[in-house]
Amino acid sequence: MRTLFWARVAAWSIAAIASVVVVVLATGVFEREIPGGSAGSTVGSVGGPFTLIGTDGQTVTEADFAGRPRAMFFGFTHCPDVCPTTLAEADAWLKALGPAGDDLAIIFVSVDPERDTPELMKNYLSAFDPRLIGLTGTPEQIAAVTKAYRVYARKVELEDGDYTMDHSAAVLLFDKTGAFSGTVDYRDPQEKAVEKLKAVVGS
Ligand code: NI
Repeated sequence: MRTLFWARVAAWSIAAIASVVVVVLATGVFEREIPGGSAGSTVGSVGGPFTLIGTDGQTVTEADFAGRPRAMFFGFTHCPDVCPTTLAEADAWLKALGPAGDDLAIIFVSVDPERDTPELMKNYLSAFDPRLIGLTGTPEQIAAVTKAYRVYARKVELEDGDYTMDHSAAVLLFDKTGAFSGTVDYRDPQEKAVEKLKAVVGS
């Protein structure tokens, strides 16, 4: 009787710890404040098809990048800090990669469809490497892609009636088959980021 009780306690504890670990691993990859992440544990569960709108107003889907490795990150053009920093870093990554980066699709996806029109995305990205790809979409399309790509994004009302977007900052990497293969984290130094990108380009 007693033995059975303790066996059950042990089983419950293992189940509880396992579910906490799963939650931490699932969210850790995308949580801005957690460096590192745990790409290996969530491979296969992130990404997939999407339908979005390119900077010329055209429909863009994952099929447009078939056979190309992808680095995707999510943000918005009114972002004061993280997004422009990541875009400037992406410029530097492409320089560091040289011709090896030509095949890599670095894609900036808006989480602010209300304000980020294709035109605004185009103007905003004109300050960066022309190889950088901007995608926006309808609120429904953006909701679908952030869900599929497990991206956190939340509208935060400001006191002046304006709003900002709180969003995850990790860059999600996909190999040329479209399989999720890890992240470049916001705090990764350039050499580490370039190393990860080289691995995904060469895989
Ligand atoms: Ni941002």
